[in-house]
Amino acid sequence: MKITAIYPGTFDPITNGHTDLVHRAAQLFDHVIVAVAANTTKTPAFSLDERVEMAHTVLDGIKNVEICGFDSLLVHFVTERGAQVILRGLRAVSDFEYEFQLAGMNRKLAPKIETLFLMPAEQYAYISSSLVREIARLGGDVSEFVHPHVKAALQERMRGV
Ligand code: COA
Repeated sequence: MKITAIYPGTFDPITNGHTDLVHRAAQLFDHVIVAVAANTTKTPAFSLDERVEMAHTVLDGIKNVEICGFDSLLVHFVTERGAQVILRGLRAVSDFEYEFQLAGMNRKLAPKIETLFLMPAEQYAYISSSLVREIARLGGDVSEFVHPHVKAALQERMRGV
């Protein structure tokens, strides 16, 4: 049986930590769908289309990875796509409580879907999209944390903000 894993997130913007996780997942699963959430609870800095476009550019060339936007309940999206696994990254203990709640709720809603966790490489353990946005906004260098295309998009977006 072919296993499809869905890696959901806001990706506002996609960072090297997210990319690291996708590369790891692509080696483990037959098909990986990076699911970019519209996420109305977070008021993202980039529109859904912009976040999807950035993910496309950054992840270009990994042949079993697909990028897709979604605006529905995650478990509905997972079922629609015939996937079996929700994939999340765990960077530190501080991520655990939220992830525990999310995984528990998703299991309640769809008991057959499993949530699996992967750890990003150590050097990405402290990266988050909001920190990257803040550093860019204040004129700091984000080259180490994001793809050059994302860096350019951040500079463009933060100009004059
Ligand atoms: N490397 C670096 N940073 C990472 C990372 C990694 N491997 N994994 C996560 N992060 C960071 C992100 O940059 C983000 O940082 P920020 O909060 O500073 O912006 C943070 O960790 C969490 O972001 P992300 O992984 O994108 O997840 P999220 O919490 O934004 O996404 C959804 C949550 C989209 C999965 C969830 O809201 C959802 O499922 N929504 C769909 C609607 C739904 O079904 N809701 C009910 C759920 S029960």
